[in-house]
Amino acid sequence: MDNQPTELEQYERIPTKVYKTPDDAVGVVAASIARLIRRCQQEGRNAVLGLATGSTPVKLYRELIRLHRQEGFSFRNVVTFNLDEYYGLPPHHPESYRHFMEVQLFGQIDVPPENIHVPDGMISRSEVFGYCQEYERAVQDAGGIDLQILGIGRTGHIGFNEPGSGIDSRTRMVALDRLTRRDAARDFRGEANVPGYAITMGVGTILQAKELALLAWGESKAAILRAAIEGPQTETVPASFLQGHASCRCYIDAVAGAELTRFRFPWKVGPVDWKPIIRKAVVSLANDLKKPVLRLRDEDYTENGLAQLLVETGSAYTLNIRIFNELQHTITGWPGGKPNADDSNRPVPAEPAWKRVLVFGPEPLDAELGMAGTLHRLCRHQHEVTFAYLTSGNLGVPDNEARMAISLLNELNVNRPEDVQGKNRVEDLAHELEHKAPFDEDSLDLRQFKGLIRKAEARASCQVLGLALSRVHFLDLPFYEKGRYRQFTTGQEDVAAIQDLCQRILPHQIYITGSGADPNSVAGISFRLVSSALEACGNEAWMKACQVWMYASSERPWYPEEIDMAVPLSPAELAVKLDCLYHHRSQRSQTPFVETQSGESWQQAENNNRATARHYDRLGLAEYEAIESFKRHKESEARSRK
Ligand code: GLP
Repeated sequence: MDNQPTELEQYERIPTKVYKTPDDAVGVVAASIARLIRRCQQEGRNAVLGLATGSTPVKLYRELIRLHRQEGFSFRNVVTFNLDEYYGLPPHHPESYRHFMEVQLFGQIDVPPENIHVPDGMISRSEVFGYCQEYERAVQDAGGIDLQILGIGRTGHIGFNEPGSGIDSRTRMVALDRLTRRDAARDFRGEANVPGYAITMGVGTILQAKELALLAWGESKAAILRAAIEGPQTETVPASFLQGHASCRCYIDAVAGAELTRFRFPWKVGPVDWKPIIRKAVVSLANDLKKPVLRLRDEDYTENGLAQLLVETGSAYTLNIRIFNELQHTITGWPGGKPNADDSNRPVPAEPAWKRVLVFGPEPLDAELGMAGTLHRLCRHQHEVTFAYLTSGNLGVPDNEARMAISLLNELNVNRPEDVQGKNRVEDLAHELEHKAPFDEDSLDLRQFKGLIRKAEARASCQVLGLALSRVHFLDLPFYEKGRYRQFTTGQEDVAAIQDLCQRILPHQIYITGSGADPNSVAGISFRLVSSALEACGNEAWMKACQVWMYASSERPWYPEEIDMAVPLSPAELAVKLDCLYHHRSQRSQTPFVETQSGESWQQAENNNRATARHYDRLGLAEYEAIESFKRHKESEARSRK
């Protein structure tokens, strides 16, 4: 492997390939796996693969399955070792990693079952130590791992080596970090059901593999990837230890790579085309020097590596004013356009004065987190706002919430003994909830019931914002209703449902989210579905005039240079937003510790909105309580210009 970093990559201590999409990346990784297996076939030996779980490698496994099915590629000479397993889950449990691997890969290729190794999560506590040593020995006996596939957790973990794991750590039992458990909460219908422990290969074990490939997609991984790839080697970010491996490479998509120096501050690593990044450069200089934009001096630019920018754009004076105005023009309290106003410098056209607005939320709560304040404003300005929840979100409802709702229904039924059918349904659900173990899957009936809970919460939260309930739609897209996390398959019927709604509403504005989300997440899938539906409507007159806006997720606040429309919220509006968010009570964190409250998604959204406002303030713009941010959906705008 050619590991020499180019000038552009000089900050990167792990060679990193950045691809436009995850599909492009997995094509390359799958091809190198295939080459390895073929080479071993020729040498008459087994290829030893280290495998990972999580959403990240799913696309890679699909490509390997495709190679097997369509190109007759064989895995008969492959031996596999998985990184980790939840402790306490039997192999057939739907969320065990063993089961995951069966469904996502093993069951669909011809790898001999006796060649498969996944740590046993059911080993008794007293035997764990010996068992882990045996697992290591089995890896050695197989000749060591030729290629280890890795994902990365938001804590910087590889396998389940959470922060604190040493460079020499071996296969062992570990306690899972709180953030990791929260990330897994969806799989287990609530954080309370996520196992507290796991068995994982150690960092030292992983580093013994001959070659390592770390994959990562989506903006939620951007910050931790920067720490792992460019930061110091530290136990706080176990993935940073990969820097010490002679043959490790990261394969990531563009949004996951966004925080690497070559993308975040490209002028620091080589010559650049300034045009598309002027705002970014000025904002970052103002940040570094803690100065408002209008107070930056020529010397500030020349002494901080931005002399070239001045040469191309004139002086600090003209550049500062230009960028200040650009930032100023992103701010509007009129997200639906300001009637009868000069709109030449406003993000939204004044005409038509009253707009039809269509807001898509992947799951209940997503759009509320991103734009409840803006929704409230659009309603107050009397626009015709339609809110479409793409999925019911039933997979996110913990059993306890369902138990509470059932007890309410039971009370009601006591008062209405004549409703026999209703009574029977309630009894069946109550029976299921009483008898299911925490890890058990829900029946379709229970999923539907949980969906009703989320819909009731969603309606209540919409009412806080002043939305007419007749304009709140639940599309219940089939991909979600029929699927489960990490295993969703979309179809034409999903796109058709969205397209149909668009054609009924003929919106002047559409709001969506998920462009930077993990492509396997509900938000990521929803974004692609809405994009396909909009593309299919591309030639229709309404679509050509339609503005498509993307709202931020609660993952991270956007930088001012990325924002095309900033909608300020007053303290009172922020309070309305929080009131709206609180109605999604089934989504509150379930860890009963007070100090974890800051991890609540509404807290994160509030923090992000306040952080954006502070950022604008620091740059010398008006000081607001909070700001919701939006980006233009460039693809649909480019299409409409054609
Ligand atoms: C899990 C696994 C890791 C995986 C990580 C990221 O905790 N133990 O091996 O890399 O989480 O998960 P995802 O790919 O779903 O983001």
